[in-house]
Amino acid sequence: MYENKISVIGTGYVGLVSGVCLADFGNTVINVDIDEEKINKLNNGEVPIYEPGLSEYLQRNFESGRISFTTDVKEAIENSGVVFIAVGTPPKDDGSADLQYVLSVARDIGKYMNGYKVIVDKSTVPIGTGRKVAAVIQEELDKRGVDYKFDVVSNPEFLREGKAVYDFTHPDRVVIGTESEKARDILKEVYRALYLNDTPFVFTNLETAEMIKYASNAFLATKISFINEISVLCEKVNADVQVVAKAMGMDGRIGDKFLHAGPGYGGSCFPKDTRAIVRIAAENGVDLKVIKAGIEANENQKLYMVEKIVNKLGDLKGKTLGILGLSFKPETDDMREAPALTIIPELIKRGARIRAFDPEGIKEATWRLKDYEKDIIYCDNEYEVMKGSNALVLLTEWNQFRRLDLKRVKELLADPVFFDLRNVYEVEEVEKVGLEYIGVGTAQ
Ligand code: UGA
Repeated sequence: MYENKISVIGTGYVGLVSGVCLADFGNTVINVDIDEEKINKLNNGEVPIYEPGLSEYLQRNFESGRISFTTDVKEAIENSGVVFIAVGTPPKDDGSADLQYVLSVARDIGKYMNGYKVIVDKSTVPIGTGRKVAAVIQEELDKRGVDYKFDVVSNPEFLREGKAVYDFTHPDRVVIGTESEKARDILKEVYRALYLNDTPFVFTNLETAEMIKYASNAFLATKISFINEISVLCEKVNADVQVVAKAMGMDGRIGDKFLHAGPGYGGSCFPKDTRAIVRIAAENGVDLKVIKAGIEANENQKLYMVEKIVNKLGDLKGKTLGILGLSFKPETDDMREAPALTIIPELIKRGARIRAFDPEGIKEATWRLKDYEKDIIYCDNEYEVMKGSNALVLLTEWNQFRRLDLKRVKELLADPVFFDLRNVYEVEEVEKVGLEYIGVGTAQ
């Protein structure tokens, strides 16, 4: 029934992972981007982002001819029965999502359409965008005076960075939003590998699918802010947030995921999507108080980490802090909205100098923290960071930071204080070697 190729427009995080994994499901995929340099790299088998497993997936699907990369959007659209839109929706100054890239792809689709096609919105887009995409395509068809049929589907993506390939190929659910029976059947074919494999599919209308994505991200972000606020209270009342979260999570209604207290959430999704849903709600006369509070709590949490450090070390003038981890989470080089981007400048403003290491994030950190470059030294490894530092701050829980030689840490630090802002270590094991331990949400 569905024999055509699939185009995936956009080779960013979502577009590239979707393209490669859809190819791995047995589809023939054309991945398109306007960035020639990126396409050249991909055609040479080079993955432009750091994402575990992606390179192997790319290699085997490229070699088998199931995926190809091009800048020729016209040819890709003309040769595809299904077109995924997976371009960026960056936040505008007012918090709303910038739809110019999505709508420009929609215009291209209208321009080059040559028969029935299913257009699939993979990008996270404000509720109502699917209808806008359809209107723009129709406008272009009208201009051309042609009458091709098409359906627009919302198929939000729930993958996490660092686990993108696994998440795409093992989703908790696949959401398909369209009123068209024909488009649904085609999407079932596209996802046949999952559909036959007992993955739950949620079929619904366009707007509901778009809302599911925002509501899911906003809920997860709020869950993190919730436990972060509880962690602050735990510190004051001699409670241990780790145990609190564990026991809360044993209640099936709460669940144990995303209850890990830390320096605040970051990344390209939670901060952007929480702000966007608040904005969409305001435009519709709805005040999303809970989500707004979660956003505020997240900002506070990052600053509270700075306060913890100052409370312990006193005046930071003339002190050097060793920072382990810069990316917003492990297994990614992505620094977007990383807590480090708030915490490091705040420490520097208070007079501290920084020595920092991250396995993948240094390149991006260097330009994102350019204004502070004279106070930051980027090191080659975790122990270099400690040399000449007063205290150590673990900011991102990369696996290689989970098994530090604590005796060596103690020897290298001038003031033996270890701020474990991801609660990776047990207080006893750290204090045993004579290091003072400061975690998040445990009595200080
Ligand atoms: C998030 C969602 O988890 C994905 O389902 C979604 O598809 C994606 O956004 C998106 O919309 O594209 P991601 O931003 O890659 O994925 O990363 P997460 O693993 O969710 O982590 C987000 C932030 O929350 C990180 O800064 C992490 O350190 C923090 N976090 C997470 C906590 O502080 N505590 C937790 O318990 C969990």
